[in-house]
Order: sequence, then structure tokens, then C-alpha cells
Amino acid sequence: MARTFLLCGLVCALAGGLAAPARPVAMAGQPAPQVIEIAAERFSFTPSEFRVKSDAPVEIRLRSDDTDHGFRILGTDIKVIIPKRGKGVATVTFQPPKPGRYVFECSKLCGAGHAFMRGTLIAE
Ligand code: CUA
Repeated sequence: MARTFLLCGLVCALAGGLAAPARPVAMAGQPAPQVIEIAAERFSFTPSEFRVKSDAPVEIRLRSDDTDHGFRILGTDIKVIIPKRGKGVATVTFQPPKPGRYVFECSKLCGAGHAFMRGTLIAE
């Protein structure tokens, strides 16, 4: 029984794949946001580099593992404070305007290594 379902799922997925245009997500109207979780800690973001699809919004959830930090994507108006550990999560939604590399950095002075808190979002 389970095997039949599995086979059907596979065949249907293949058939759908063949019938659908190259970018079915864009056809769906409102694509579901991609979700990325980032942890901030003196003096880095984890992950500090990640890839997303450029044709859908990215929901970025930020939490701190120590003190207050900030999160700013250069060249955009995305800028939030990440509350200190245990005080919740800051969430921003970013729609990449086009494929490319977007540098983000800590926007709140958090200590000697503040200037090194950077990362890259790659929209492709
Ligand atoms: Cu973290 Cu400045």
C-alpha cells in the first residue's frame, strides 16, 4: 500500500515537473517566504553566508546568544536591533531586488570586534 502511494507520488511529481514551466514558483503568484535563522554572537553571525532564491521573499529570524546586536543589509533599508539572549527574536523580510551578493553587518556597537561582524546573503 505504502509502496503504491510512493510510486504514485513519484510519477505524479515527474509528470508535474515535465508539464510545468521552468519556474513554477513564480507562476503560483505569491511564493512562500524562505526562512533563514541566524544567530548573532560576539563577533560573528552564524551562518555568515547563505544562498536564497532571488524570486521570493526571505524571512530572516535573528537571535542573539549574548548581548544586543544589530542587523543591517547594506544598500537596503533593512535594519533591526537583535535583542540580547533570551529576550526574543527579531524578524525581517527581505525581497532581493535582483540576484547578487548582499553584505550584511552588525549595526549596533557591541564591543571590540563589532566591525568584524559581517556576512553575505547570496540571492541567485
Ligand atoms: Cu554585534 Cu556590533
